[in-house]
Amino acid sequence: MSTAPTPWNPQDPEVQRDQRAAYDALRARCPLAHGANGHTTVLGHPEVLQVLHDHATYSSAVSQHPAVPNGYDQPQHTQYRQALDHFFAPERMAHFEPTCRALAISTVQEALALGGRLEITQEFALPFAVRVQSAFLGWPTLLQDELLQWLQRSQAATRSGERAQTAAVAQEFEDLVERVRQARRGVPPEQDISSELMHTRVDGRPLDLRELASVLRNWTVGEVGTIAASIGILLHWLAVQPDWQERLRGAPALLPAAIDEVLRIDGPLVGNRHITTQPVELDGYPLPTSAHITIN
Ligand code: HEM
Repeated sequence: MSTAPTPWNPQDPEVQRDQRAAYDALRARCPLAHGANGHTTVLGHPEVLQVLHDHATYSSAVSQHPAVPNGYDQPQHTQYRQALDHFFAPERMAHFEPTCRALAISTVQEALALGGRLEITQEFALPFAVRVQSAFLGWPTLLQDELLQWLQRSQAATRSGERAQTAAVAQEFEDLVERVRQARRGVPPEQDISSELMHTRVDGRPLDLRELASVLRNWTVGEVGTIAASIGILLHWLAVQPDWQERLRGAPALLPAAIDEVLRIDGPLVGNRHITTQPVELDGYPLPTSAHITIN
């Protein structure tokens, strides 16, 4: 039997200052660590693959309010993906690309017009991310401001750890989605992606309000943070890599591969949560049923 995982605190300010560096340093010391929150942190590559490839033992259903689709296991996960994948089909993405590029250009022009110093996340990346997700869904500008304000309230509620607060904020989002749904009653699915979602069926039935709210929460506030963080990571990388910056200015065709590689090395999502469905051993260390695991 392996020794007990190294104790550590993922919330430690020193870890939060540079999570990627902290995880890499820990990974060099041990394949498993035990967080102050009682979760097991899985760092070793073979152990991460063991968790990723054994859905029956390591479930994605980690929350009482499962996210659609990533909070579900088989067979529901596949049913949801079958209902939702076409929204991201290559021809759909190609159709949306000009809108996305135009929003990127106008957001850059607005930022440049401000002149002087710019706080990249609040004054550029977040506004861009909200605009592009709203354009993707066919949501009006008014809703964009409401989304940004909701995002701030949601982050404050999460930081507070107060269940009543997070539940109230979650209800607010469901109410917002109900308004979007009401506004699309009798509207054909072709009008926009939100209308099409309202007509989407899974397992022969329409998505209910909770599922719609979960999908739209993922596609709006869920991804707004991820997109904004990705922009921050890429701009920081360009700022600290002047040679690469020069090279990419000279050969813009390299940009797609460079962006993928930077986000592969330093992606915005540092962990992925799972929960055990039965007693199991990881790196020779016994874990009980319902053990919370984060792979990093
Ligand atoms: C740079 C931006 C993005 C990054 C780095 C990113 C990263 C990820 C990662 C790591 C997961 C896996 C989560 C898990 O297994 O629990 C995921 C899942 C997902 N993402 Fe993104 N994402 C991005 C943008 C988006 C956008 C813009 C959308 C939709 C409009 C989106 C929709 C989804 C969906 C639906 C899933 C669930 C897939 C599944 O469970 O099968 N993502 N994303």
